[in-house]
Amino acid sequence: PASHLVSSQSSSLSVDAEGLQRQIDELSAFSDTPAPSVTRILYSEKDVLARRYIKDIMGHLGLSIREDAIGNIFARWEGYEAELSAVATGSHIDAIPYSGKYDGVVGVLGALEAINALKRHVNLMDIICACIEESLKLKCHVIYSSTLHVSVCVWGFNSLSNHLSEVSGFLPKRSLEVILFTSEEPTRFGISCLGSRLLAGSKPLAESLKVTVDGQNTSFFDAAAFAGYAKNGGDISSVFMKKGHYFAFLELHIEQGPILEKEGIPIGVVTAIAAPASIKVRFEGSGGHAGAVLMPTRNDAGLAAAELSLAVEKHVLDSGSVDTVGTVGILELHPGAINSIPSKSNLEIDTRDIDESRRNEVIEKIHQSAVKIAEKRGVKLSEFKIVNQDPPARSDDMIINATVTTSQQLNLSHKLMISRAYHDSLFMARSSCCTNTCLNLNAHHLPAAAGYSHKPEEYASPMDIANGVKGSLLHGFLSRDG
Ligand code: GLV
Ligand code: MN
Ligand code: MN
Ligand code: MN
Repeated sequence: PASHLVSSQSSSLSVDAEGLQRQIDELSAFSDTPAPSVTRILYSEKDVLARRYIKDIMGHLGLSIREDAIGNIFARWEGYEAELSAVATGSHIDAIPYSGKYDGVVGVLGALEAINALKRHVNLMDIICACIEESLKLKCHVIYSSTLHVSVCVWGFNSLSNHLSEVSGFLPKRSLEVILFTSEEPTRFGISCLGSRLLAGSKPLAESLKVTVDGQNTSFFDAAAFAGYAKNGGDISSVFMKKGHYFAFLELHIEQGPILEKEGIPIGVVTAIAAPASIKVRFEGSGGHAGAVLMPTRNDAGLAAAELSLAVEKHVLDSGSVDTVGTVGILELHPGAINSIPSKSNLEIDTRDIDESRRNEVIEKIHQSAVKIAEKRGVKLSEFKIVNQDPPARSDDMIINATVTTSQQLNLSHKLMISRAYHDSLFMARSSCCTNTCLNLNAHHLPAAAGYSHKPEEYASPMDIANGVKGSLLHGFLSRDG
């Protein structure tokens, strides 16, 4: 009966696919690069405007908005058992340089549309009640039952009561929160999932932010202050969440890979997120004139970087598993002049695997190569910093099963899959954020056209997005204890 209830409720709720697409398009206009690309960097002017756009929607939905010291934004719909821990969902709206308009955004605007769909339901109920009260001059009383069905008693009129209970409005039992996470992308300060990492209580990160600067030497706190955050002068321990703060966390996200689209499956149920790591490396040599310094006397920091890049590829391939990946996404040479031997080089290396220890072996080998290359080329390895080396995360079985059941009820085919991209769920899965009953995350994947993501061609169809909102989020809000 409980599952029947979820099905009948969620199938009678309608997601406004067109309106949601319009919002996705509108949000994409807050960008520092021309359409169709989107570039929205943490705490930039465009980020501030985009946040305002989202907060406006949150406000219109009647949600209470809270922002923490680093700009994680929480919009809360109080449940009728408000003392229970809330069910949360959300994602990010920052966008890496020249990316698309769906990454993260779908999980924020989609969540707000899910709430909107539920609220539309309630409003309908309110209107009917008001009409009856007015026309029949009777007292109307709405009772929200624990099974999430609403029954309406119009005292003295049982038949009307029966009729109205079919309308089924909704008030959640547990409070619902939509979270906009600060800086899932590492673009500005090199730190991924900054907001969720801090929510999960990362003290080392809180400490290191005190000395963190961006590429323009702007400090993290000056940048945050520009966006109206971090007003308490750097104490960000207030961002940490108490253990078990949330009952459950869900995240809706485009797949960012080709599988769902290729197989024609609308819902990917994520069982685990691969373990990501990132490394910063710097080589320093003597530089000099590109014509006058002869080859035998050079110590070229640029060539050290080139050699290390190839070593990264080799170590990844040597793991023998397709699940091991490595990317040198940033490679900078100083001074960056055609006729000057590079005296400094900076590399930023991203490596991931579903197997944490195999990923760690790759990191170790990259380190050994960096040391050897420096020695051989007579350059200094002035930095080898592992910025983050995160474990993988697993989704909670209870949520996986509930999602599978709902997909079946909605006649949407689904696939259990690993997320090779990381998401804020990686950190919300940590027990410090969710209770033991539901330790966890659930990132639901939607098909991304051709698997494109982190580039302007990124696309997900309005129908797939609406299915995701319905099959993943609405279900989460409606299911059992939620
Ligand atoms: C973040 O967007 C990532 O998975 O790289
Ligand atoms: Mn991304
Ligand atoms: Mn994302
Ligand atoms: Mn991501």
